[in-house]
Amino acid sequence: MDTTGKTITCRAAIAWKEKSPLTIEEVQVEPPKAGEVRIKMGSSGICGSDDHVLTGDLSMKFPLIPGHEGAGIVESVGDGVSSVKPGDKVLTLIIPQCRECDACLHSQGNFCDKQDVLPCSGVMLDGTSRFSCRGQKVYHSFRTSTFTEYTVVPEISVVKIDAAAPMDKVCLFSCCVPTGYGAAVNSAKVTPGSTCVVFGLGGIGSAIVMGCKASGASRIIGVDINEQKFPRARALGVTDCLNPNKLKKPVHEVVMEMTGVGAEFAFEAIGKIETMVSAWNSCNISYGVCLILGVAPEDTQLPLEATKIISGKTMKGVCLGDYKPRDCIPQLVTDYLQDKINIDPLVTHQLPFNQLQKALELYHTGKAVRCVLLF
Ligand SMILES: NC(=O)c1ccc[n+]([C@@H]2O[C@H](COP(=O)([O-])OP(=O)(O)OC[C@H]3O[C@@H](n4cnc5c(N)ncnc54)[C@H](O)[C@@H]3O)[C@@H](O)[C@H]2O)c1
Ligand SMILES: [Zn+2]
Ligand SMILES: [Zn+2]
Repeated sequence: MDTTGKTITCRAAIAWKEKSPLTIEEVQVEPPKAGEVRIKMGSSGICGSDDHVLTGDLSMKFPLIPGHEGAGIVESVGDGVSSVKPGDKVLTLIIPQCRECDACLHSQGNFCDKQDVLPCSGVMLDGTSRFSCRGQKVYHSFRTSTFTEYTVVPEISVVKIDAAAPMDKVCLFSCCVPTGYGAAVNSAKVTPGSTCVVFGLGGIGSAIVMGCKASGASRIIGVDINEQKFPRARALGVTDCLNPNKLKKPVHEVVMEMTGVGAEFAFEAIGKIETMVSAWNSCNISYGVCLILGVAPEDTQLPLEATKIISGKTMKGVCLGDYKPRDCIPQLVTDYLQDKINIDPLVTHQLPFNQLQKALELYHTGKAVRCVLLF
């Protein structure tokens, strides 16, 4: 049945308010307006940023459909859409690439002005939503929403990928892989023989470890309070695992002792102020580079010892591995298909969408690196 131009009724997960369980409901998904794309979802990861939305650390309008790390097939497109067409395999993007704004036009920028990340409005570019449930508007998350059988996103937040990419894994290229792997290989440009420390060994941290290893780092120290993460992290290339809760000293002091001079590259992939400060303090004072990937709760400040700022070390925030997403992500997918990157160890679990609760449990207990929902 041709659904073009018609409202689609399908199943989606709705968070009615923050800190409340998600429920799978029947929702109405409007046809895409001009400049928008409606996608039949194939798969979606569960990312730490989704958790920040659901806990309220990142404030967003509720009720909403969570998820942003998605892959699917274009069902229909609105007027003026030219970069994708029905039938294309695509990824949804947490930051768009409008190719017109200051960040998009700058050679080093990727944090497009049209993003809906900080602060999050939960609406499309025209200020409204394409979802409703029992007559009530339901908002988007990060202008995407992927815990749903169908979604609508702006064209600038969609990228076409190789049709051969396996749907049950490739959604990780929407966020986890470019963010983590990209932070190491593209943002930090980790050097061969270097020492790296990675705070947080979830999906993003694991992808960072892969990037450090691929760049030839000789020592990769992994830090996490959940020791279930350690065996898989070691398999990816972590050489030393630290659980801050079991140390007698602050973790940065232990890193300093282990390395003698501090890490050349420190990555924070948790989203907490204290671990951001620990990552900064774990860096070599002169040439260390500290990359912040974790999204801190809104309205928080980072307390850094001001006199230690002049010694030469650098702090850099990084979103989506500094990649201009529509330009760069398709190549990463092709690299995967050509066996240049192996992301398979990141996909530890795959579950049908109707087992969302089980998938969330795997996320919360830390049993999964990434659990992919399949539609
Ligand atoms: N910058 C970006 O582009 C970008 C993209 C995606 C996600 N993120 C952010 O990256 C962070 C990580 O995302 P993820 O998907 O890997 O989440 P995740 O939940 O899979 O991983 C977080 C890890 O941190 C560990 N952890 C929690 N508190 C800790 C502490 N105090 N000390 C040490 N370890 C601790 C957890 O056990 C877990 O293993 C989140 O803040 C997310 O919002 C940023
Ligand atoms: Zn994400
Ligand atoms: Zn832009």
